[in-house]
Amino acid sequence: MEIIYSITRLKESLQKQRVAGKTIGFVPTMGALHAGHAALVTLCASENDVCVVSLFVNPTQFNNKEDLRRYPRTWEKDCLLLEQIGADVLFAPSVEEMYPEPDNRFFDFGLLDKVMEGRYRPGHFNGVAQIVSKLFAIIAPDKAYFGEKDFQQLAIVRAMVKQLKMPVQIVGVPIVRENGGLALSSRNTLLTEQERGDATNIYRVLRESVEMMKIATPDKVTDWVIDQIHAVPDLRVEYFEIVDGDSLQLVASWDDSESVVGCITVFCGDVRLIDNIRYK
Ligand code: PAJ
Repeated sequence: MEIIYSITRLKESLQKQRVAGKTIGFVPTMGALHAGHAALVTLCASENDVCVVSLFVNPTQFNNKEDLRRYPRTWEKDCLLLEQIGADVLFAPSVEEMYPEPDNRFFDFGLLDKVMEGRYRPGHFNGVAQIVSKLFAIIAPDKAYFGEKDFQQLAIVRAMVKQLKMPVQIVGVPIVRENGGLALSSRNTLLTEQERGDATNIYRVLRESVEMMKIATPDKVTDWVIDQIHAVPDLRVEYFEIVDGDSLQLVASWDDSESVVGCITVFCGDVRLIDNIRYK
């Protein structure tokens, strides 16, 4: 695996591959890699001639300085994992390399980024769009891979690619979970053992809520999920919304749309965890 720190070097290297007719797949990450990231990279490596992974903790998407400061960093472990699972190029730029000057671009995603994560983390998705659009412009991948765990992020990236008419195919990858059901996340390393146990209740409740669909409206299921999570000490729901899978707007009835997803954010102690479940 080739490790590249500079944009110019990366462009040169990929240009050679492109001229040779190779397809390029891309997985953007912020490091502290786990089996969730690995699923994206493995799929990317299997579907493309060249698999590029970026590792960059993007400051513009953190609306909370403390969250950025304590974001886990495990560089050596990450390199070993990527090497093992078949990444060809690791792009690991510095903040100065990616943002030699402040990025003042403002993206308009309509209602998509006003809800859920967008409401509770103002500016977050603008930062995601800034970095992902820059990385797409540099790498020009044929395909790029994003996890369904960050369901709203996936919707925003799809919207951005459509808006900017970028010639890249966005591939969504199902959520990878621990044995107990907790969605894998770099932030899980910040949980104590007790909290980790408590956090498994998030997916348990989400799964049980799928059964409730048959007998209750989305509103009722929403209240039920929140109550069930709050019955676990140390868990506090920031939001749970049952939304249309494309527009991300609330659905009043199960028949309102073809695709319905429940998106949740829960504080476990002071660690913020997100998850979602598909109802249809
Ligand atoms: P990061 O949190 O490192 O996640 C990188 C990718 O891995 C995202 O597409 C995310 O959805 C996916 N992922 C994380 N946990 C997963 C899991 N348990 N199952 C499946 N996929 C999972 O998301 C970001 O970084 C950043 O916002 C980024 C897109 C890199 C822009 O900075």
